[in-house]
Amino acid sequence: MSVERKQRIEFGDFQTPDDLAREICAQLKGFGLNPDTIIEPTCGVGSFLVAAADTFTQAKAVYGFEVNRSYLEQVEKRVSGRADRQRIQLEAADFFKMDWRARVDALPGHVLVIGNFPWVTNAVQGSIGGVNMPKKSNFLGHNGFDAISGKANFDISEWMLLDVLRWLRGRSADVAMLVKTAVARKVLAHAERMGEGVQDSFLMSIDAKKHFGAAVDACLLVMRLDPNGARCSDYTVYETLHAKKGKRVGHRHGMTVGDLDTFESFSFLLGSSPQKWRSGVKHDASSVMEFTRTSGGYVNGAGEVVQLEEQYLFPLLKGSDIGSAKAWREKFVLVTQRAVGEATHKIQDQAPRTWRYLTAHAEQLDARGSTIYEKNPRFSIFGVGDYAFRPWRIAICGLYKALRFRLVGPIEGRPVMFDDTVYYLSFESERDATETFDHLHSEAATGFLSSLVFWDEKRPIKTSILNALDWSKLNEQDGEQGQLTLNIAARNTWSHERRPAARLAQRR
Ligand SMILES: C[S@@+](CC[C@H](N)C(=O)[O-])C[C@H]1O[C@@H](n2cnc3c(N)ncnc32)[C@H](O)[C@@H]1O
Repeated sequence: MSVERKQRIEFGDFQTPDDLAREICAQLKGFGLNPDTIIEPTCGVGSFLVAAADTFTQAKAVYGFEVNRSYLEQVEKRVSGRADRQRIQLEAADFFKMDWRARVDALPGHVLVIGNFPWVTNAVQGSIGGVNMPKKSNFLGHNGFDAISGKANFDISEWMLLDVLRWLRGRSADVAMLVKTAVARKVLAHAERMGEGVQDSFLMSIDAKKHFGAAVDACLLVMRLDPNGARCSDYTVYETLHAKKGKRVGHRHGMTVGDLDTFESFSFLLGSSPQKWRSGVKHDASSVMEFTRTSGGYVNGAGEVVQLEEQYLFPLLKGSDIGSAKAWREKFVLVTQRAVGEATHKIQDQAPRTWRYLTAHAEQLDARGSTIYEKNPRFSIFGVGDYAFRPWRIAICGLYKALRFRLVGPIEGRPVMFDDTVYYLSFESERDATETFDHLHSEAATGFLSSLVFWDEKRPIKTSILNALDWSKLNEQDGEQGQLTLNIAARNTWSHERRPAARLAQRR
């Protein structure tokens, strides 16, 4: 990587286009923002600094800070001929070394902190050898070493925004910052937990691809702080900078709810899933433990054809098979245990060829990174227990951006295994599985779940969300109303041998 590229990433150096900064400032003025003092803490070449100075003409002082001195020189040139030049103060400063609290305390009136912090995670900093991040922070319970080593992954902008909230404590102020949408949500959740004086807040989506060439969901996050005002942790998400109506988002029962109106209509389903959602098997060695069956035998991920007993082999559906509703591709996985921690040496007697295969690949299996393998018998896997061997299951892939459950029955008489990107419930009987499957596709269940899922996240479907749905309550509703309302959208994305409507008809 070139030095320039590394530096660009390390400092999150993606300058906001002037037009966008102007559009945002005009909107903020329209919302009634009227600051006495403006702070742009990482002002770059000055888009927000100049746009804010032009828009909020009554502000007495406009401060621009920046670590890159050549950028400050550019801003200096930009503002040098202005009639209001004395209002604008420029200063070279490293955000992480500055005593912001002391600076801000010395500033008069209502403060607006505006700008666009670097969009880079500490893990990326670690991978490129970047040091532009908080040095000795105990951020969200992570120690400085975890932060620097990348063990605790967080966005630098998240840390910076929470720092801004800390230095504005007790002040009447506004914060308007361009951020990744996932960061904005985390900051607002944290602000709620910490009881920060956020009186009103909202997110307005921007087209990050168009403005920054970044394939990520991003927004303008606005937080209005008033130490004496009533706190409100609910906020509104608008789809564009100019949208008039948005979705109400809030925190309920320890969860962030993406659509409060829908959530409240189906909140009777909130509780605990009657059965815990599990993830598929984890073995961290797909080239050794997974096979494709061919006419010549089982072929592992390294292309070796091997002869194995069938006893420890189970049909495998991967996350991509579940997510895109593909047919089974003759894939198998070696399941060495029926329960976590079970002794594995008995494989030697029960399936000698399988044991020889495992022993031949012991070097790779023994080298599996996670410490959980060290504490368990050789060739251990995870994600096994009685539940993993029941014949019927309902599965969903955590990585896919759709509420797409699949009903999966046994293949060749064997229960089907999944990889660890899949979450599932399992059942002894087909009837119980299909009944639950129909419940999960009811309008109420899909409404409830979609109000909690954030599709811009890397793994939008989470067990914490699935486990919060008490689908047994739909039995009562089913009984009361005599039928389930099946969600048509869910049906369209559903794939299985038979359609749920047909099964419902059979049951009645
Ligand atoms: C995403 S750019 C945005 C620049 C400007 N705020 C804008 O909206 O156009 C981030 C800026 O933060 C600056 N920056 C990065 N780390 C910094 C630090 N530790 N202290 C001060 N500025 C920093 C970069 O040099 C870069 O100009």
